[in-house]
Amino acid sequence: MYSTTLLTTFALSYVLAKSDLSNRRFPDGFKFGAATASYQIEGAWNIDGKGVQLWDWYTHTYPDRIDEQDTGDVACDSYHKWREDIDLLKALGVNHYRLSISWSRILPNGTVNNINPTGIEYYKNIFKTLRENDIEPLVTLYHWDLPITLHEIGGWTNPLIAEYFAEYARICFREFGEYVKTWITINEPQSTCSGGYTAGAKAPGYSLEAEGLYLCAYVHMLAHAKAYHIYDEEFRDSQNGRISIVLDSAWSEPASNSTSDIEAAQTNIEFGLGIYANPIYLGNWPKIVIDNVATRSTLEGFVRSRLPQFSQEEIDFIKGTADFFGLNTYGTGLVTLHNKVDEDIGIPSYTLDKGTTSWADPSWPSDVPWVRQVPWGFRKLLKYVYEKYGHPEIVVTENGWADKTGTLNDVDRISYISQYLSALLDAYYEDGVNVSGYTVWSLLDNFEWTNGYTQKLGIVQVDFHHDNRTRTPKDSYYWYQNVLQTKCLVENCI
Ligand SMILES: *[C@@H]1O[C@H](CO)[C@@H](O)[C@H](O)[C@H]1NC(C)=O
Ligand SMILES: *[C@@H]1O[C@H](CO)[C@@H](O)[C@H](O)[C@H]1NC(C)=O
Ligand SMILES: *[C@@H]1O[C@H](CO)[C@@H](O)[C@H](O)[C@H]1NC(C)=O
Ligand SMILES: *[C@@H]1O[C@H](CO)[C@@H](O)[C@H](O)[C@H]1NC(C)=O
Repeated sequence: MYSTTLLTTFALSYVLAKSDLSNRRFPDGFKFGAATASYQIEGAWNIDGKGVQLWDWYTHTYPDRIDEQDTGDVACDSYHKWREDIDLLKALGVNHYRLSISWSRILPNGTVNNINPTGIEYYKNIFKTLRENDIEPLVTLYHWDLPITLHEIGGWTNPLIAEYFAEYARICFREFGEYVKTWITINEPQSTCSGGYTAGAKAPGYSLEAEGLYLCAYVHMLAHAKAYHIYDEEFRDSQNGRISIVLDSAWSEPASNSTSDIEAAQTNIEFGLGIYANPIYLGNWPKIVIDNVATRSTLEGFVRSRLPQFSQEEIDFIKGTADFFGLNTYGTGLVTLHNKVDEDIGIPSYTLDKGTTSWADPSWPSDVPWVRQVPWGFRKLLKYVYEKYGHPEIVVTENGWADKTGTLNDVDRISYISQYLSALLDAYYEDGVNVSGYTVWSLLDNFEWTNGYTQKLGIVQVDFHHDNRTRTPKDSYYWYQNVLQTKCLVENCI
């Protein structure tokens, strides 16, 4: 149905003109893919037995918090058009498709007493069709759509949510494990905990600066580890798959070569990525996080640290629960010191515990604030993750470019992705980083959370003004298709 014709003339001339890209070929076995998430594409928010989830509630209750008061009620209508999505993936030539399961489509009340067979059938059909098309599913169990019933009992601040998540995960392993060999427990806990429970910028919209992020991170770590152990103990032998988590991070670049800025950049990444990666790959929270929060909590008059303390049993339970490192990244920040650990005591706050500020260099290409084209930052991040976290195999599970126009002639997206893939090749060949896959975000223009439909990240355009949600491949789609065929970013690779 979609043309497999290689490239538009434009995209081809673009590739030929780019002599600054790596001329190395992608290694044998390197996997390319594209990604989506349930709430951002499915629509069908209230049919076929699906329960209400956090983002349904958030967009309906606080329409003013979403650009143009939009919702994911229909989104790309992939609930009905998923076959067309798979046709697009097939013609693109990807090795894998990263998608997520909507918890409330499987368990409308969040709990296992009420299983929705129609929801199970929906995903089974997708997985079967992917198999028929030789596309490996990378399946995320939780991409931010928490059943509303579980939000109402405290959401990610209630440690029992970890139990509910584990029980849901077990059902997914049981029902879908025949088809799914790569599992991702949770997508970007940092985005949820900082955006949803501290900055108030994402659902559920809380500004719990004192301890929201720490509680949320604590519960996410327990939830992830429980699901990992269930897979490991009950399913791995018979299903032979692997399981990990997806963590997001920008690169933290010191604003200058001063000792203070270099330390600030290290602290900044520990208070970001480190809060989630450290417990899983190294054990416990990063030391600087433990120390800073404890020091400030004491000065603020608390009788214990605002950071929940892991028991030794929990540390051991969480450590080592990842079969690879799933990494999402979109940009880089310049970092400097905002306050020392004993300064600005007053209002208890994650931001002051961290004590850093970061910003983007205005010369870095960007059309929306959170995506900046800084390929050298990506290379440094890959090297950092590889060295810091014990040389894990890294799968880039999301990376891509956002624009506001949604143009089909998306030269900026091609530029961004080609530069990032080139940086990835440099990380692999020059720095020895074991990065085994790359996943473009996103297959489709979709519901970009609080930015609604104003920010487009798809390599396929979706017409949100038409009931059919017509899909049209962009130039970047054809460009990526060519890379997948040639395994090469330039005219001739060595
Ligand atoms: C699930 O939630 C719905 C809506 O709140 C409620 O009507 C129903 O009784 C619940 N079902 C179960 C089995 O808990
Ligand atoms: C820091 O030092 C390095 C090596 O001397 C140099 O390349 C870089 O530009 C310096 N960075 C800043 C921000 O001054
Ligand atoms: C990368 O990691 C995988 C999984 O651990 C391993 O099989 C492979 O040999 C590694 N490749 C390199 C180049 O280190
Ligand atoms: C909408 O899609 C249906 C089914 O693919 C097709 O028959 C119909 O012609 C489309 N309508 C328009 C206006 O594109």
